[in-house]
Amino acid sequence: MAKKILVATIKPFAKKAIKDIEKICKDSGYEFILMEKYPEQNDLVVAVKDVDALIVRSDKVTREVIENADNLKIVVRAGAGYDNLDCEAATEKGIVCMNTPGQNSNAVAELAFGMMIYMARGQFNGKSGTELKGKTIGIHAYGNVGQNVARIAKGFGMKVLAFDPYVDKEKMKAEGVVPVDSVEELYNICDYVSLHLPSIPETQKYVNDKLLSIMKPGATIINTARKEVICEESILKVLTERSDLKYASDVAPEKKDEMLEKLGDRVYFTPKKMGAQTLEANINAGIAAINQIINYFEKDDNTFQVNK
Ligand code: 3PG
Repeated sequence: MAKKILVATIKPFAKKAIKDIEKICKDSGYEFILMEKYPEQNDLVVAVKDVDALIVRSDKVTREVIENADNLKIVVRAGAGYDNLDCEAATEKGIVCMNTPGQNSNAVAELAFGMMIYMARGQFNGKSGTELKGKTIGIHAYGNVGQNVARIAKGFGMKVLAFDPYVDKEKMKAEGVVPVDSVEELYNICDYVSLHLPSIPETQKYVNDKLLSIMKPGATIINTARKEVICEESILKVLTERSDLKYASDVAPEKKDEMLEKLGDRVYFTPKKMGAQTLEANINAGIAAINQIINYFEKDDNTFQVNK
């Protein structure tokens, strides 16, 4: 019997991406099942019952989902951050978890610039704003997205700094990026700080009032990472104390309404997480996901496994 591959996405891929995923799936002899915009988490719990493989985006693959999946062998998060997968529960059941690193990073990086310009131009309010050219951008975490941000920033004529203790400084220098020795330095001297940290236990509320309060006068912080990496109380406190700072985020904070009320147009939040929501990113990440599943089944290839 053909293996069943379920694509379960509350936030759907572009139609073209789905067409491509379905074709690859069927051409390789697998059964393709699609569940989009499902209203309840329980729908996912039920849908995984007899599938062999699962492709998701930010959908929550919880312990309950894993435990209810009798045949599941592999879950691929079509994207970078896999904080939505309960890898511990998967590992206990011998289920492989993968992500598709780099596939949607240009889309996220481009959105970061969209947000920078939006904030620099007063949310398009018709009044005089500022330009990105000549400004300094600080990239907090120099992974796939951070590297794309650096590439684009240079095109804007920005000075590019980065902080990432896990990346070789020589690599940064070779890419025209100035590595800084401390995270404090990054927050202290940059006009824009762009967050690209993964949401892991070590990064929870990492951007706190200590970092925010030393930001350069007039600086803007851009968050296209995860809401967990920034301390919302600190944003509220420091931006209330300092009316020169701005915050834009692709991940609506829990305290969204309070922030909008107290900070007005110095903050901006996209209505839905949009970083990876492009045709190209959907196609890249979706095709990578289905190919990784097929390669795992056919060739035992676990290159992108994150729960080794
Ligand atoms: C990622 O981690 O890859 C991005 O945050 C994209 O998430 P999405 O697939 O939910 O848009």
